[in-house]
Amino acid sequence: MTPQDASRANEALCLLAPVIPVLVIDDVAHARPLAEALVAGGLPVLEVTLRTPVALDAIREMAKVEGGVVGAGTLLTPADVTAAVEAGAKFGVSPGATDTLLDACEAADLPLLAGAATASEAMALLERGYTVQKFFPAEANGGAPALKAIGAPIPQVKFCPTGGVSMKNVNDYLSLKNVLCCGGSWVAPKELLQAGDWDGIVALAREAAALPR
Ligand code: 3PG
Repeated sequence: MTPQDASRANEALCLLAPVIPVLVIDDVAHARPLAEALVAGGLPVLEVTLRTPVALDAIREMAKVEGGVVGAGTLLTPADVTAAVEAGAKFGVSPGATDTLLDACEAADLPLLAGAATASEAMALLERGYTVQKFFPAEANGGAPALKAIGAPIPQVKFCPTGGVSMKNVNDYLSLKNVLCCGGSWVAPKELLQAGDWDGIVALAREAAALPR
């Protein structure tokens, strides 16, 4: 897959809903009902972070949920890419980008939403052909004003800001011309997961899915 193909695929994904839930799953039994709740609430694109021992099994379970598009977050190495694809991930997300990781995703036909935090990082990804990028860590990097400023000289890159985004600031990002959607963990809080409060998660997803862009 070329970087241009990956960018087209990621743009289409980012346009499916205003928010991509970033999911940290500790119990694989939560995977399926969580995915069903988020999809039912209007958030079909789901990022499962590869930070817990059950993450790959969670992707396998969630990939069975109709209407969902499940990806793997925190891809750092080619081994992560292979494991994510084997588990059924349809896209990948990484906090930054290296040539090794980009090579691996392109070879595996896995669209990578690669992270950039500075103008130079965004330019390096753009030079390779990636016009859709993750802005990470969004709030710690200066938030929406910083992303707006990067967009002025580099308008051809569109972003999915992630990291510190919540209902308090999400509209600041979604109102920017260079933002397609936002990523965030607030739609699947640990307390609701542990309590199995799937209706609560449907409600949070509905609220996020209704955000204007
Ligand atoms: C992460 O690193 O877990 C993601 O960027 C999500 O960040 P958040 O928990 O601040 O939404």
